[in-house]
Amino acid sequence: MIYEPDDDSFLLVKQIKKLAKGKKVLDMGTGFGILAETALKSGAMDILAVDINKEVVSYVRSKGIKAKLSDLFSSVDEKFDLIVFNPPYLPEDELEDEETRRITTGGKNGYEILEKFIIDSKDYLNKNGKILIVFSSLTDKNKIDEVLKENKYKFECLEKKKLFFEELYVYLISRD
Ligand SMILES: C[S@@+](CC[C@H](N)C(=O)[O-])C[C@H]1O[C@@H](n2cnc3c(N)ncnc32)[C@H](O)[C@@H]1O
Repeated sequence: MIYEPDDDSFLLVKQIKKLAKGKKVLDMGTGFGILAETALKSGAMDILAVDINKEVVSYVRSKGIKAKLSDLFSSVDEKFDLIVFNPPYLPEDELEDEETRRITTGGKNGYEILEKFIIDSKDYLNKNGKILIVFSSLTDKNKIDEVLKENKYKFECLEKKKLFFEELYVYLISRD
């Protein structure tokens, strides 16, 4: 199963169009590859797409995008100017089947995958590199803000979008 691009994907698409030109971009958790494709169309210099799901990697490669199987940064050995991630960010729901859970669930509280990503990202950013993420009010925004501060990142919320039962936040994050 591959995640169908949704509101969260489209919020990132909008920002990638403004940010990707001339940049070396990592699309973490690429899914259908919508963010990688947007970066390429927007003039990114180079793009690597990674995902933990084998089916995703084969699919994205078939579209001519450079892609690797990777659990977060486990197979990544380069640095990037822009890292984009629309992570699984929902809290665990026992009623959800295993396959859907892998795409949408960030851990028991929802923020665990994003927290690990934020901590690990430091080693994969070029000087002046930036990170673009989206997450939901169902994830615990205060916890994400705390993790960013603890790890000495600067961040700003570029956009908020209210949906029926949650609010989505788009963050631009940097270290310099
Ligand atoms: C919400 S989907 C986003 C897909 C696409 N980027 C988009 O915006 O439409 C999350 C993606 O992250 C992938 N993923 C989940 N855990 C991951 C991990 N630990 N490392 C890499 N990718 C992961 C999932 O397989 C899924 O494709």
